[in-house]
Amino acid sequence: MADSKVKKIRTRIKEALASTAATDDICIKGWVRTVRRGKDVAFLALNDGSCFNSIQVVLEPSMAGFEAAARVGTGACLAVSGALVESPAQGQAWELRAAQVTVLGDADPEYPLQKKRHTLEYLRTIAHLRPRSNTFGAVFRVRNALSFAVHSFFQERGFMYVQTPIITANDCEGAGEMFRVTTLDPAHPPLGDGGVDWRQDFFGEATGLTVSGQLQAELFATAFSDVYTFGPTFRAENSNTSRHAAEFWMIEPEMAFADLADDCRLGEEFMRYLVRYALQNCPADLAFFDDRVEKGLIDKLETLAEAHFEVMSYTDAVAALQKSGQKFEFPVEWGCDLQSEHERYLTEQIIGGPVFVTDYPAGIKAFYMRLNDDERTVAAMDLLLPRVGEIIGGSQREERHGVLLRRMQECGIAPENLSWYLDIRRWGSCPHAGFGLGFERFLMYVTGMENIRDLIPFPRTPGNARF
Ligand code: 4AD
Ligand code: MG
Repeated sequence: MADSKVKKIRTRIKEALASTAATDDICIKGWVRTVRRGKDVAFLALNDGSCFNSIQVVLEPSMAGFEAAARVGTGACLAVSGALVESPAQGQAWELRAAQVTVLGDADPEYPLQKKRHTLEYLRTIAHLRPRSNTFGAVFRVRNALSFAVHSFFQERGFMYVQTPIITANDCEGAGEMFRVTTLDPAHPPLGDGGVDWRQDFFGEATGLTVSGQLQAELFATAFSDVYTFGPTFRAENSNTSRHAAEFWMIEPEMAFADLADDCRLGEEFMRYLVRYALQNCPADLAFFDDRVEKGLIDKLETLAEAHFEVMSYTDAVAALQKSGQKFEFPVEWGCDLQSEHERYLTEQIIGGPVFVTDYPAGIKAFYMRLNDDERTVAAMDLLLPRVGEIIGGSQREERHGVLLRRMQECGIAPENLSWYLDIRRWGSCPHAGFGLGFERFLMYVTGMENIRDLIPFPRTPGNARF
């Protein structure tokens, strides 16, 4: 067997670097980050994505095939066998003295990720390669760790994971931001009175990609009490901001027998849990972000992990913003939707930390939120965080059949299209509440990365669905 060395069991670089003893015989596979040629020896930094650090591979001229191995390009994929020995170099405990190098895939000098630093904008144009950079390696390891933490948080608390549909006929948020799903011929759609006859479409009605799994999660909450969804969410919002993506992931818990205060409590515990999880499980990646992306990031996260989250009504928030004397691009007055500049001023300047804003005017919120006794506001909550603004949106739900029906009519929603949603209020209705956390927005906060396009593997934004 000529290539028996290559077939030998591979050790991940993370495990090799955490070794407690030297070994003669180890096999490592990964991609070359840098190549340095000294007078006689050559050094390769090899990375396999298992951890932030690369392992230093030392090539000596006595090694069979030295010339070929020392000529590999940055970006090449190698299998290296040899001895794991204590490293004389600073900042690393172990290095790999190569005995045999097999080039699995060479890389020519046009490989775009050469050693120099690249802008994030440029890296977005090579999204197929950016996972091999330090920054994106760290981003996607943190994303992975926190995806797992989302499930452990809810599973530890007895919440059931439910997969809500991607294709739906309902615009949960009523904001008209659904992408259409159709098999009709766009050049010759069947016409009925006043436009396209969607009854002839695949599903027999107009359908689109989901903007939220909430309505279906509510149905499951009235059977399993505590549930959550975690899945892709789509919004055809034509806003080219650093906080909006057309495809993002949302986590939506829904609890029966819960009111707005319970909802805020769950949101607060969830935030703290996720932040602690990242601090415990991703120290090297967070240290990189602290050093290169947002100074003081780890302090910020440690503070949040212990923070008490303020709660402030929308009415008080508007009064505080007006009293602040701050000039805003959009004036603030009761009844208006809070803009990003208002949200940030509130959390960064007025509160100086996380804040739940509650009880918004009914007129600016979705139909499903529970109407308060004042009949002007609803039992809504948004969690605002410094730098990011709104990260969670949630509410207690309207569980009273008559009130919900009235709210739907006021919002121009045809009750017959949501008869199943209304049915839940006819048979065994109960107070219930939930929220949605934008996963990428949360990752922005945890990593300090400032553009949502850099927290999702392949971002979809207006004008861009490459890769
Ligand atoms: O506030 P939103 O629209 O709330 C809902 O969809 C509710 N149905 C959730 C619920 O109660 N179950 O969205 C929730 C969160 C926002 O706070 C934000 O973090 C994120 O989803 N979000 C986006 N993230 C990225 N790109 C976008 N276009 C987003 N729109 C909302
Ligand atoms: Mg919202």
